[in-house]
Amino acid sequence: MKKAIYPGSFDPITFGHQDMIERSAAIVDELIVGVLNNSEKNSLFSVEERVNMLKELTKDIPNVTVDSFDGLLVDYMKKSGATIIVRGLRAVTDFEYELQIAQTNHVEYPAVETIFLVTNLKYSYLSSSVVREFAAYGGDITKFVPPQFVDRIYRKYNIKK
Ligand code: PNS
Repeated sequence: MKKAIYPGSFDPITFGHQDMIERSAAIVDELIVGVLNNSEKNSLFSVEERVNMLKELTKDIPNVTVDSFDGLLVDYMKKSGATIIVRGLRAVTDFEYELQIAQTNHVEYPAVETIFLVTNLKYSYLSSSVVREFAAYGGDITKFVPPQFVDRIYRKYNIKK
């Protein structure tokens, strides 16, 4: 039974995240989408809002559950029984950071393996911070995020479209 976690901030969810969730759910038995509950980070959406949006997004994928976690990812994995971390690699710029996290997590919890999926070329430029920046100035974000979340994102910036 391969139980994996796709951890992240998901603030907000992008088409890149959706693609990663669908592709990783297809190669593991169970996938937990784990939203980091980082109280120090000034987030656009509360952790509850992000969890609910991810549940809405993944409701038709039977082997996906959504949860939030505090503190270290490896501690959450010990509790939940997940042993695989899935992360996406967009460009070489992601690599150094991801390698360091993967190696640290493996040292902290040797049962853990990190697997990397290469981001779909269509979304390789995309990040939550780009979406926030565009939305904040009223830019078009319809090419970046699933349609059901577009208005919710603009609303956070008091922008009516
Ligand atoms: O979407 P993000 O912000 O790139 O996700 C980063 C995340 C949540 C995967 C990473 O920050 C994380 O795992 N944080 C939890 C704290 C932790 O375990 N840190 C140790 C990594 S060396």
